[in-house]
Amino acid sequence: MASPLPPTATTLCPNSTSLTSITSFTPSLFPKKSQKPHSLRTKPKLGFVCKAANNGNDQNHDIMGKLDRRNMLIGLGAGGLYGATGLDTNPFAFADPVPAPDISTCGLATKPDDTTIDCCPPNTTTIIDFTLPENPTLRTRLAVQNVAADPDYLAKYKKAIELMRALPDDDPRSLAQQAMVHCSYCDGGYPMPGYSDLEIQVHYCWLFFPFHRWYLYFFERIMAKLIDDDSFALPFWNWDAPAGMYMPSIFTDTTSSLYDEYRNADHLPPKLLDLNYSGTDDDVDDDTRIKENLTTMYQQMISKATSQRLFFGEPYVAGDDPNPGAGNIENIPHNNIHFWTGDPTQTNGEDMGAFYSAGRDPLFYAHHSNVDRMWSIYKSLGGTDIASTDWLDAEFLFYDEDKNLVRVKVSDSLDEKKLGYTYEDVEIPWLESKSTARKSANKRKAAVAAADLTTAFPATLTDTISVEVSRPSAVTRTAEEKAAEEEVLLISGIEFDGTKPLKFDVYVNDDADTVSGKDKSEFAGSFVHVPHKAKSNIKTKLRLGLTNLLADLGAEGDTSVVVTLVPKFGGPVTIGGFSIELISTTL
Ligand code: C2O
Repeated sequence: MASPLPPTATTLCPNSTSLTSITSFTPSLFPKKSQKPHSLRTKPKLGFVCKAANNGNDQNHDIMGKLDRRNMLIGLGAGGLYGATGLDTNPFAFADPVPAPDISTCGLATKPDDTTIDCCPPNTTTIIDFTLPENPTLRTRLAVQNVAADPDYLAKYKKAIELMRALPDDDPRSLAQQAMVHCSYCDGGYPMPGYSDLEIQVHYCWLFFPFHRWYLYFFERIMAKLIDDDSFALPFWNWDAPAGMYMPSIFTDTTSSLYDEYRNADHLPPKLLDLNYSGTDDDVDDDTRIKENLTTMYQQMISKATSQRLFFGEPYVAGDDPNPGAGNIENIPHNNIHFWTGDPTQTNGEDMGAFYSAGRDPLFYAHHSNVDRMWSIYKSLGGTDIASTDWLDAEFLFYDEDKNLVRVKVSDSLDEKKLGYTYEDVEIPWLESKSTARKSANKRKAAVAAADLTTAFPATLTDTISVEVSRPSAVTRTAEEKAAEEEVLLISGIEFDGTKPLKFDVYVNDDADTVSGKDKSEFAGSFVHVPHKAKSNIKTKLRLGLTNLLADLGAEGDTSVVVTLVPKFGGPVTIGGFSIELISTTL
């Protein structure tokens, strides 16, 4: 098997101050080797190891647009905001991170069905800046399937949720208010400070992992305080392992505080979870499903996580339009699991199937605990955090366990151990679950040739369509080149009504007559959308990593590939265009 991008000690890292060979890669944030869980040792590594020194020169950023907005703000007398950005020394060294919202400006959020809902937290004028706890005792987040057999833990967990449910609805620690945290940050509750016509959105961008880490952090501290047990930690829904690929049974006991009635009744255990869920339960036997699920994890975490942009999502700074683009894990399986869990008989797929209501289901927090664990695993496999201050200095506000409003920064969230928690060391069964290439002899023909792409698109996606997309160069790149730049398929101008769910699948060089299974290299990925209201149509893009896919298909010497889009549900959706480009593996 071709491991992803074999690392070498001579890897060139653009925009970076240093480079490291993968064998000597021991950043200080990582646990020491002796502390490393056994399942993380001697495992495949991600193919990029550059330590980024961001120069801010984001090739796809709307630099001119930002300059215009900045000039406009300076003209309005708000120039002080940017007083210390050093524009004169480096015109690209913007420091324009998304600021914490101003709670006093919080407005109604909008549900997917277009009715409004007040999700605003209680207001206060006192804001505390977060400081990391000193020498915290580590709390261990356990796999849900393992806590079922631990009556003491389970009793505490149920008690904590019961107490959160019992708090008055206006208490920021109540389950109702905790759910509203998600609603305000995800359904247009907060205007972007300085840009009243723009909303803050923490999905479809690089804030996805840090925002949810902080959200869970405070949720967990509130639980611990309510049951007076400082060591209490949330469990994680271990959906990336066969033992956890079910709706966890501790959540489906109808007498438990962990129960939520708004879930898909067809997906109660022992129904196997489909990480690529497309809105209907297709007829795949359990062994195939598990294999597809594991391959999906390998693709999202390893073979297609070969750049920070692909893993974390697209850059998003103050003044940007929301929804620039989701990272791998946010897209699949995070979004799919939201749908799979929510109740399709409810107007908006409540609770898990819509962002405004997802946090009402206690299972949401166990789901995100595993999403958060993926960030930790990504780093244990050699993945690196983004070095740009546009990311590190982004801020959020949360109420803590003492009902204080606390301002946090992304930079304080990078190491979960510094926040006082870690994850139970369970097997990671997908580390070797590489896809296999089908390499059909009867390949699909493109209905649109590369030369006609810009006239044929934008177009509405109604049926399966295959298009030819040219590659930047028809060469097999060296390992060094691959470590520095990832070849990606960019599907741009994806525009749709955000109030409806949406999914389409993407294949490269697939068979003419049948689409490949999710365990085949030809399956390049999907676009998956969980309903939430946006001010207007959502306009976003999808980047899918091609470097390893092309190697698997033996297509590295080809001048173009045939890309097939298969609509699965929702729509209509407009596709703006296609291109294949090389992007830096670091941001
Ligand atoms: Cu904020 Cu699972 O979404």
